[in-house]
Amino acid sequence: MKTQNIPMVNLQAQYKRLEGEVSEKWKQLCRKGSFILGEEVEKFEEEFAVYCARKHAVAVSSGTSALHLALEASGVRGREVITTPFTFIATAEAVIHAGGKIKWIDIEKRTYCLDAEELEKNISPETAAVMPVQLYGCSADMDPILESSRKAGLAVIEDCAQSHGALYKGRKSGSLGDIACFSFYPGKNLGAYGDAGCVVCDSDETAQLLRRLGNHGSDKRYYHTEVGYNYRMDTLQAAVLRIKLRYLDTWNEKRRRIAGLYNERLKGLPLALPEVPEYAEHVFHQYVILADDREKLMKKLADSGIATAIHYPVALHMQPSFSDSGYSEGDFPVSEEISRRCLSLPICPELSESQVEYITGKIREFYG
Ligand SMILES: Cc1ncc(COP(=O)(O)O)c(C=O)c1O
Repeated sequence: MKTQNIPMVNLQAQYKRLEGEVSEKWKQLCRKGSFILGEEVEKFEEEFAVYCARKHAVAVSSGTSALHLALEASGVRGREVITTPFTFIATAEAVIHAGGKIKWIDIEKRTYCLDAEELEKNISPETAAVMPVQLYGCSADMDPILESSRKAGLAVIEDCAQSHGALYKGRKSGSLGDIACFSFYPGKNLGAYGDAGCVVCDSDETAQLLRRLGNHGSDKRYYHTEVGYNYRMDTLQAAVLRIKLRYLDTWNEKRRRIAGLYNERLKGLPLALPEVPEYAEHVFHQYVILADDREKLMKKLADSGIATAIHYPVALHMQPSFSDSGYSEGDFPVSEEISRRCLSLPICPELSESQVEYITGKIREFYG
């Protein structure tokens, strides 16, 4: 079979289909000289709030700024925030930026998300908030997390950077805790054409605070009630997101179909395939397998023109940037094991059935 060239995500193919709509809209906005916030951002906020079954959406400049604002608005300064060390670095960085103290707990083997039993054991009077990360497109088991948090009076901030449109017991990811944060990094299930993000919540007061903090502590030009940040969303990004939001459910459905095909073709090999808990509708931001001989398999796939990635090769408590966090190797055995074995295969709505056949054919070849 001829060697193919398969990227992790194919944004060029997606752009080809959207080019007419996006360039027309961008032209209109450039002609109007409309570049920051404005009507397009407000409309996106309305539409995204409805999509997430939330009262408010506050559009911001990235997923990282969304997390920072959510933590700051939750008053975590000087107090503990419980989260997982098996996530993208931004989850933990945001806690530090908001003046909080990170308390990591291990993940569940089944979903790689925050372990609710570990949470219950680790809440203390110092704890202000818990931040479950809905990793790879699957929600953590939120009911026990919400229950323990409610009992202890903790704020629940969902990191939904990878779970746009996912469901937990029929409820939208992002609608479950007090606040939820989304990233629209270009490769996400809903991605902008640059950095962008959003915070969603139901409280009027929290939404107003988030909005002010993200715009220099101001809700009236040149009048400032808090020291804030420049975390505003660009108008051009809101325009792309409004267009793409209309396709999100169809694209997620395609991702699920691709994941199903991968599962079918990889069955029986010495690999662990993604498990979808009975409570979840997964949106497969990533399709992640566990392989003991990961590096050799990656090389075989790279030699066959297939891109792969590792999300994430080093659990955060073992990153040099957190060397003074008081944690060390061995503290979180599940996170450490998964970081040694996880391998993300290409997945995006544009990936064809024949490409999945090609990729899985090469993996089967590898295992003889
Ligand atoms: C789980 C998680 N949290 C936070 C972020 C940060 O989002 P952004 O890159 O938009 O700042 C990401 C982005 O990759 C992520 O995957």
